[in-house]
Amino acid sequence: MPVIAVAHPLVRHKIGLLREADISTKKFRELTAEITRLLAYEASADFPLERTTLSCWSGPVEVEQVAGRKVTIVPILRAGLGMMDGVLDLMPNAKISVVGLARDHETLQPVHYFERFVGHLSERTAIIVDPMLATAGSLIATIDLLKARGCQDIRALVLVAAPEGIAALEARHPDVRCWTAAIDRHLDANGYIIPGLGDAGDKIFGTK
Ligand code: URA
Repeated sequence: MPVIAVAHPLVRHKIGLLREADISTKKFRELTAEITRLLAYEASADFPLERTTLSCWSGPVEVEQVAGRKVTIVPILRAGLGMMDGVLDLMPNAKISVVGLARDHETLQPVHYFERFVGHLSERTAIIVDPMLATAGSLIATIDLLKARGCQDIRALVLVAAPEGIAALEARHPDVRCWTAAIDRHLDANGYIIPGLGDAGDKIFGTK
């Protein structure tokens, strides 16, 4: 199942707080970062480890370390930027690739206007971040771009997913896993997730 709802009590608690209509920009940002950290923790659970020996106070000791995994975080502009730091907190050496996709409010289709990928994508794990998996158009377009550049290990983190977006993602990219804090009911006629969070970009940037 490519879309994994993280059922941890802290995630369920925090996503509930995020739904408050009058939430402040500060609180929305803080909770988004906290939830993203928890999603990133889950999404990295299968990172391979290797053994190495280091000097401990008591002499040489064999320890485990993540086996040289190179990660690129891929925030989808603009709302995905609100999740970037949450992943960086756990993977501070990750490089950042950026994709600019805006939603055409009439067709609900993504319009591609910017991209800047780091090099050697075939050797990297890409972790795409975008708060709302609504139609999945932006996520699918970003995965298409990454795959066209040779990226073979692609994962995604979202705060809320709609069943329509999950179905579209599973149909187009069944190999890509996506971790979400919640699966909501449906999309409305404007492509907003119900009950959802409203416009996540506006809430993260304090616009509107
Ligand atoms: N983008 C948002 O910000 N919110 C939604 O509900 C859907 C897409």
